[in-house]
Amino acid sequence: MLSIDLSQEIMELKKKRNAVILAHSYERPEVQDVADFVGDSLGLSRVAANTSADIIVFAGVHFMAETAAILNPKKTVLIPDLDAGCSLADTISAKDVQEWRDENPNGQVVAYVNTSAEVKALADVCVTSANAVAVVQSLDATRPIFFLPDMFLGAHVERVTGIKMHVWMGECHVHGGIGDKEIRETLEAHPDAEFLIHPECSCGSSCLYLKPDAKMLSTEGMVTYAKASDRTEFVIATEVGIIHRLNKMAPGKKFLPVKESAICQYMKMITLEKIYDSLVEDKYVVSVDEEIARAALGAIEAMISIG
Ligand code: 13P
Ligand code: SF4
Repeated sequence: MLSIDLSQEIMELKKKRNAVILAHSYERPEVQDVADFVGDSLGLSRVAANTSADIIVFAGVHFMAETAAILNPKKTVLIPDLDAGCSLADTISAKDVQEWRDENPNGQVVAYVNTSAEVKALADVCVTSANAVAVVQSLDATRPIFFLPDMFLGAHVERVTGIKMHVWMGECHVHGGIGDKEIRETLEAHPDAEFLIHPECSCGSSCLYLKPDAKMLSTEGMVTYAKASDRTEFVIATEVGIIHRLNKMAPGKKFLPVKESAICQYMKMITLEKIYDSLVEDKYVVSVDEEIARAALGAIEAMISIG
């Protein structure tokens, strides 16, 4: 089936089944184009918490669909490919968090949304890249803070807040792979462009050193910033799927990826064909153990309410 027909079929199926498609900005362009909402982890969680649809099809990765399922225990949450995981979320287990808790009974656990439901269940609060700074600023800095699992986002939060934390040494293979070399080369080639950097990138601190006016932003923060800016040329350090969204939301401006090969293969597992099958056959249902969901809900709700 041609992708235009498939998109049409998906639109009709959505109406018939009272379903919404929520897509992350790293999804394939044609997947973003059939979605009811495209955004970052925070925006997607907020929409998932408030939707009146019966079915949520999550065009994103597993932890995002799990978060939607925890927020909507009575709704059907579907992910079109169960293998759409996250290398960053996989760096830490609930056992690792419990060990830290046992050693730091007075400690506070801050879990990035890129974690499993089991890890979230042991957290005091969750964060996304859009509100990590605000959430950490709201904590009691006299007590130990465990920030997990992304070391580069953790370093960014420490730099901005001045609060020293215990940071888990995890990284995303896509953002960890956007390093100093790529930044230096792009800076040389485009000295006058604005630099927008995702805080998961390993190049964050050297980029701020080389270009102090570079902006560290979540994916949606990049869209909002680019739309409002008077500038017309932007260098973008994150997964390249965002370029489609930036072109759509800020037409007439130029967006250059720092690294063309910064592609998350997990996000790209979601295709129109799989979304269609998902809506026809209700696959794959994402469910979270009731006790774990109950324990994780407070940390997720705290995340949604801040920033
Ligand atoms: P945000 O969309 O929250 O900026 O996160 C990026 C990411 O890596 C999601 O997997
Ligand atoms: Fe996970 Fe990295 Fe892919 Fe985001 S880009 S889903 S952090 S592997």
